[in-house]
Amino acid sequence: MTEFATLLVADRGQKARPIHLVDKESFASWLKKRPAEDRVLLEAQRFDGKKAHAFAILPRGSEFEVVSAVKNAAALSPWCLAALAEKLPEGDYRLAHGEPGKAALGWLLAQHRFDSYRSKKDEVAGPRMLVTTEAARIDEMVRLAEATALVRDLVNTPAADLGPAELEQAVAELAKKSSAQIDVTTGAELAEGYPLIAAVGAAATPDRAPRLIELEWGKPGDPRVAIVGKGVCFDTGGLDLKGAAGMRIMKKDMGGAAHALALAGLIIGSRLPVRLHLLIPAVENAVSGNAYRPGDVVKSRKGLFVEIDNTDAEGRLILADALTKAAEAKPELIVDFATLTGAARVALGPDLPATFVNRDDLAAEIESAAREVDDPLWRMPLWDAYDENLKSDVADLANAPNNSMAGAVYAALFLKRFVPTEIAWAHLDTWAWKDPAKPGRPKGGEALGLRAIFALLEGRYTPS
Ligand code: BES
Ligand code: ZN
Ligand code: ZN
Repeated sequence: MTEFATLLVADRGQKARPIHLVDKESFASWLKKRPAEDRVLLEAQRFDGKKAHAFAILPRGSEFEVVSAVKNAAALSPWCLAALAEKLPEGDYRLAHGEPGKAALGWLLAQHRFDSYRSKKDEVAGPRMLVTTEAARIDEMVRLAEATALVRDLVNTPAADLGPAELEQAVAELAKKSSAQIDVTTGAELAEGYPLIAAVGAAATPDRAPRLIELEWGKPGDPRVAIVGKGVCFDTGGLDLKGAAGMRIMKKDMGGAAHALALAGLIIGSRLPVRLHLLIPAVENAVSGNAYRPGDVVKSRKGLFVEIDNTDAEGRLILADALTKAAEAKPELIVDFATLTGAARVALGPDLPATFVNRDDLAAEIESAAREVDDPLWRMPLWDAYDENLKSDVADLANAPNNSMAGAVYAALFLKRFVPTEIAWAHLDTWAWKDPAKPGRPKGGEALGLRAIFALLEGRYTPS
């Protein structure tokens, strides 16, 4: 993992190359104050301050200064320094005016590489940013970058190397680091206590056996918060097998689990005063003679009988049992992350996690936290009238609707059946993936909605 802490360091007045940030509005007045030769240098580099992420180099003897265009120099976005950090050579840099603030995140993440599977590694040390921000803020920014990088790495790791056991290993590492308690349910106990998780994971047994991974951390008296993440290490669709195109990136179907684990790491790292309960149902949705079938009926942990209409709607099944378990401890808040439906992408595109919340005030809090940290998401309705589409001919409900509309809403309504109304609950149907790439965000695994929910929790629960 990239050593982010070495790339964002305290400014003690050491020698550093200045970075000037300009935008469409401020460029002309900035240029007026510069030495005359700068105009020529900028013209030669075709830099006009208009195209965000463009930058130019201004030689100063044996050293140089940098000027870069951003969308709004008065309100820096997290990604406005990312293109610079990707291209500048090693050395110390500082902003000529002001502090990077949020933009430090893009500076750090632009320097993260997922290169475990490249024989030639990029060994070059990257550019360092000097900041006068207090040490605690630097630490938090580094933790946010680490959490995002963890999501990217877990999602990008091929399914062959990241099955339910490896996901358990990743949770165990956090437990060890933070003296949290980890508990894993498998085998007969899983079949008895979590029949839906066992059913989905049946085809991958015994090699890549399903399990429920739980971690508990925090003081018993603090408010209980449960974080749940869909951990489908590979989604073939099961007997309702996906086609080649649909299956191609399904190594990312544990993206929800990666978000949940990274969020747990942030909560613990910031020592938020909560009693944290992390739950990750980890399975592989595979194909074999003992696979669960369309038409099977499984009695869930909650007692509701679920008819399997489609084995490719597996995420909601494993989450149903995990949400039931989470609710048993009566937390004041449950948040789940899941790469649950293709329909969420059709509705909102790749950038916006479809967010379902059973309380208007909580939804407003989440939306404002998301805006504050530039980690966008969009609220979608838990439209009760559609609930009748989850009817089954033989059981209490079916796992897929009898029509192909509003798929993300149906999936959320299915989950809602397993969350008691008295518990505040938010469900993020996230893509956990970036495509196409943007500065600081290569194509592949990505954290979407992670920082928003962490900001929500930080706002609600302040360390004393
Ligand atoms: N993991 C997929 C959802 C998915 C697909 C997320 C593509 C991101 C990109 C999920 O398990 C799934 O297959 N859902 C089905 C549900 C349907 C069978 C009711 C879907 O979205 O098509
Ligand atoms: Zn599926
Ligand atoms: Zn899936």
